[in-house]
Amino acid sequence: MTENGKFRHGDPNRDSAAIIEMKNIEKHFGSVIALAGVSFDVKPGECHCLLGDNGAGKSTFIKTMSGVHQPTAGEIYFEGKPMHFDDPCDAISAGIATVHQHLAMIPLMSVSRNFFMGNEPVHRVAGIRLLDKAHADAVTMEEMRKMGINLRGPDQAVGTLSGGERQTVAIARAVYFGAKILILDEPTSALGVRQTSNVLATIDRVRKQGVGVVFISHNVRHALAVGDRFTVLNRGKTLGTAKRGEISPEELQDLMAGGQELAELEGSLGGTV
Ligand SMILES: Nc1ncnc2c1ncn2[C@@H]1O[C@H](COP(=O)(O)OP(=O)(O)OP(=O)(O)O)[C@@H](O)[C@H]1O
Ligand SMILES: [Mg+2]
Repeated sequence: MTENGKFRHGDPNRDSAAIIEMKNIEKHFGSVIALAGVSFDVKPGECHCLLGDNGAGKSTFIKTMSGVHQPTAGEIYFEGKPMHFDDPCDAISAGIATVHQHLAMIPLMSVSRNFFMGNEPVHRVAGIRLLDKAHADAVTMEEMRKMGINLRGPDQAVGTLSGGERQTVAIARAVYFGAKILILDEPTSALGVRQTSNVLATIDRVRKQGVGVVFISHNVRHALAVGDRFTVLNRGKTLGTAKRGEISPEELQDLMAGGQELAELEGSLGGTV
């Protein structure tokens, strides 16, 4: 812990309340050290923001959390047990869902078909397995309504939704199919103000349902609007984690920019930054 108590590095004792805990994660790509000992955990019902400048290692870090990359070193604990994700399917089955900025959706297909893509409900009619469209439609309408979006109908094409609404479809889908951890990689970066607030409201809703949200952003204001904790990455290292209320927007912004605050922090952390 730092002298001012504001920023802490990963607790040496594992935190059993966390859904996932990543400890001292390193990732090397040949001679490039993308992550040099990052610790990060996510608890149920919280939004833990991961901030950092371009190239800080944010995407690499969440790719190790979601099974896309295997860490070069470090440990992952999932629900208190050591865990190794061989591939993204492993992480998805454990309940780790990732919503990317560029969503995997088919614009001309209906919201309902997109919602259930890969998880189509079937029923038997005269012994033949058919898509249970009525069920898919009813669930889609209801889940979107819960997220504050009233569709014209389940057949409305995804392409007619705004960017923020599409993000909400992807989030609602992940939560409906049992995500315990929801990773959002820059979900607001390409959105206008109103759509951004819709996505932030969606994050708030799913957090209240007990999902642990990892929210990656460049934008301190967006992060502060919904974040419970904030971790800043800088050149593959974590500058520490602060709780909501413990850090001002200016301090967070300075950390992101690696400004004056960074130099002070370096002193208080004994030169480990
Ligand atoms: N597959 C890879 N091979 C080699 N180097 C990589 C690879 N992926 C990432 N890197 C390097 O790792 C570092 C961290 O990249 P990363 O994409 O994780 O940063 P980021 O914080 O997500 O940045 P941005 O905000 O631009 O998305 C960069 O120096 C990048 O060039
Ligand atoms: Mg990135």
